[in-house]
Amino acid sequence: MGLKEQPNCLSQRKISVFIVSAFIPIALFRLCFYNPFSAIDDTILQDSTAHVVITSYSSSQENETQESYDRIKEDSLCDYTKGKWVKDEMGPLYNGSSCGTIKDGQNCFRHGRPDSGYLYWKWKPNQCDIPRFDANRFLDLMRNKHLAFIGDSMARNQLESLICLLSTVSSPDLVYRNGDDNKFRKWRFESHNVTVSVYWSPFLVAGLEKSGNLDHNVLHVDRVDERWGNVLERFDTVVVSVGHWFLHPAVYYESGSVLGCHSCEARNCTEIGFFDIFRKAIRTTLKAVARNRREVILTTFSPSHFEGRPWDSLGACNMTKPYEEGKVLEGLDLEMRRIEMEEVAAVREEDYKGAEVRLEALDVTAISVLRPDGHPGPYMYEFPFKNGVPERVHNDCLHWCLPGPVDTWNEIMIEMLRRWRV
Ligand SMILES: *[C@@H]1O[C@H](CO)[C@@H](O)[C@H](O)[C@H]1NC(C)=O
Ligand SMILES: *[C@@H]1O[C@H](CO)[C@@H](O)[C@H](O)[C@H]1NC(C)=O
Ligand SMILES: *[C@@H]1O[C@H](CO)[C@@H](O)[C@H](O)[C@H]1NC(C)=O
Ligand SMILES: *[C@@H]1O[C@H](CO)[C@@H](O)[C@H](O)[C@H]1NC(C)=O
Ligand SMILES: *[C@@H]1O[C@H](CO)[C@@H](O)[C@H](O)[C@H]1NC(C)=O
Repeated sequence: MGLKEQPNCLSQRKISVFIVSAFIPIALFRLCFYNPFSAIDDTILQDSTAHVVITSYSSSQENETQESYDRIKEDSLCDYTKGKWVKDEMGPLYNGSSCGTIKDGQNCFRHGRPDSGYLYWKWKPNQCDIPRFDANRFLDLMRNKHLAFIGDSMARNQLESLICLLSTVSSPDLVYRNGDDNKFRKWRFESHNVTVSVYWSPFLVAGLEKSGNLDHNVLHVDRVDERWGNVLERFDTVVVSVGHWFLHPAVYYESGSVLGCHSCEARNCTEIGFFDIFRKAIRTTLKAVARNRREVILTTFSPSHFEGRPWDSLGACNMTKPYEEGKVLEGLDLEMRRIEMEEVAAVREEDYKGAEVRLEALDVTAISVLRPDGHPGPYMYEFPFKNGVPERVHNDCLHWCLPGPVDTWNEIMIEMLRRWRV
């Protein structure tokens, strides 16, 4: 579907402070463009052809013989995306002081977020249970292997959750660090000979990110970003997670010629929106990874919760509890997830000369849209109200507090790895 252009909407708003990550434009985007999406139906949620299923395990002590696994698999295939958040007294495995890997802006506890109720929820699918994250099991499943997270700040959010979860049983060595803001990092868990790394690549495909003297992004949708593409053979398993950077103004290229633009007012170039480009970028990426016989998990679009409010308004995302059932995906969240699910299904159907391709979506969009309480909001900064309550305050309603809902994404991911490894 196309996106109706409303260029003035973005340009009329003066953004005085620009923060490296993408969430401010998204707040504006949602503010400006929310209505055009309201007609999209939500039938995709009922369509489970591309859904991933997990098996139900009641405890981590289960005897995992092939036989018992098969029995469980047949008895209880479960669509984990349908369910609800339920109270969980156990709380997270780590906290903002015990884990040193959390980006400051997402360390809500350290930044003085006063409520802690958001930490005491677990995701309960209707037909099964997701076991609490078992770090030893995860490290066993990845023994002698290299797991790479590739994408934008949401990939980083998920990676940092995983490092914190794993740190509770094995201390990681940070063996590599490079790039502004630690965009490229690698850890070794010597105990299990496991390597975990993160590669910044917000489009996955080749291109240039907008920066000081470039006011738009440039994307080449037909080839992957060489920052990770050139070292793909080092990885066993790849987690890709992108989306929000595609909303920015951009010029798109395919096979060296201009395909079109998005939100580039001054340029003599046809507006083509970003949905089709997002689809092409995902497809190019999944194909490249699958062709190289690497396992790939695509974390689906992460929803934000500005809810149509300005990003600098007081209480932009100040909820302290999950939504109850009944909040369905819509608008941008629905469409981005739909594209990802379709591309995962399409690329999996391709012929890889008989080789089995391990490619799955980690479908977090619907479960996360129920967690408006999980974002840093004003606590992206340290003690934002220490000098009283200002009229305007910057809010991050896009990334997630750690610990927080993203820990659940990794709990689901471990179930995928488990199925692949038996
Ligand atoms: C798991 O099952 C196998 C065979 O069914 C048995 O030999 C083994 O002792 C069991 N392991 C545990 C930890 O119960
Ligand atoms: C954080 O976790 C550590 C280690 O489990 C614990 O010693 C500490 O008391 C916790 N801090 C808070 C504030 O909960
Ligand atoms: C550690 O894993 C790598 C593959 O990632 C393997 O080549 C190496 O032999 C392993 N080392 C040990 C001590 O098992
Ligand atoms: C814009 O592109 C059209 C068609 O390629 C061309 O005719 C026109 O001169 C261009 N305008 C500018 C200002 O470059
Ligand atoms: C959230 O912010 C709104 C607007 O400032 C305020 O009316 C509401 O009471 C706040 N809710 C909570 C739970 O703090």
